[in-house]
Amino acid sequence: MKDIFRHTLSDIKPYVQGKPAEAAQREFGLERIEKLASNENQFGPSPKAVAAIKEELDLLNFYPEGHPFDLIEKLSEKTGLAPECFSVGNGGESLIWYISMVLLDEGDEIVTAAPTFDIYRLSASYLGAKTIAVPLKDAAYDIDAMLAQIGPRTKIFWLANPNNPTGHIANREQLRAVVSRIPEDVVLVMDEAYYDFAALKEDYPSDSVSLLKDRDNAIILRSFSKVYGLAGLRIGYLMTSPELAAKINAIKLTFGVNRLAQAGAKAALDDDEYLRSTVLRNKESVDFLESWFRAKGWDFFPSYANFCWVNCGEDSRLIFEALQRKGVIIRPGFLWGWDTWLRVSAGTEEQMRFFAEKTDEILSELHE
Ligand SMILES: Cc1ncc(COP(=O)(O)O)c(C=O)c1O
Repeated sequence: MKDIFRHTLSDIKPYVQGKPAEAAQREFGLERIEKLASNENQFGPSPKAVAAIKEELDLLNFYPEGHPFDLIEKLSEKTGLAPECFSVGNGGESLIWYISMVLLDEGDEIVTAAPTFDIYRLSASYLGAKTIAVPLKDAAYDIDAMLAQIGPRTKIFWLANPNNPTGHIANREQLRAVVSRIPEDVVLVMDEAYYDFAALKEDYPSDSVSLLKDRDNAIILRSFSKVYGLAGLRIGYLMTSPELAAKINAIKLTFGVNRLAQAGAKAALDDDEYLRSTVLRNKESVDFLESWFRAKGWDFFPSYANFCWVNCGEDSRLIFEALQRKGVIIRPGFLWGWDTWLRVSAGTEEQMRFFAEKTDEILSELHE
């Protein structure tokens, strides 16, 4: 067939998705399956969000608000930023695309880390822009090396904070270094999809919103998918200068964020009790995993999020496949070129014990 596609598509390596839990369950005839592969909230959605969504159901014949004023009003009250500073999209993921779309021309560059969330590269690549991904150093962002990669074509500096898949952060000092040294015309994006999990810890720059007051071209990205347990609704938001927000709002899908998502997100913002309990239960779960890793003598990145990144010392593809056959789905590190590492989402205590038990079984089978 004649190549009818946009020329940049030839460079696109699609995101490799895991097998859906139900498909794996059918394929392997499993009674129990635990999906710990997508950093979802395993404690269920915010109950207040669910109640609000039920009420909204009878209004599905109407389009949603194109620009969700009520939700933005609430976000504005919570953060102290003017409503003009917000854009709401279908999860952080759609906003990453929009950011790339309003900023990148062919031949431009983005600077980020490796490994990190792949959509920064994917969206840049679609637009014909180049990704410079700087490897971590000593289990941390190599901020000096990242800043040194900024050149005349650099438009965006992506910093996942916390990072995915490693769960580590740019701490207060590192973020300060970025903000003070990054050229004025490069847009700094702090992707804070896992913000509330990290905000517990002293060294996390949980006051990042204050940076927006000093810098027009910085963006903070947040998600309702993780701490509020609303991944299935697809809703997230960004905070930035009114100028940048206006550009992003000008190109986004007119009615992209549906009524249920808007109602659910609005109610979730009032569900402080659910947020507190999720953060607490997540911490217990991460603590359990980290002590289990320690007991095994495995190297891991202390997690600031709702997942762990650990070196099991075995071929991650093999462990991933063996775990899947036993009813546990995780994300293998080879996908990021870290061949012996695993990314495991935190969950309930029973899920963590199930994961540990099945992993132990596999390791003893391997070394029989
Ligand atoms: C670092 C990071 N940013 C953004 C997202 C996008 O989240 P969502 O589109 O569900 O809001 C994710 C999802 O896993 C992530 O890990």
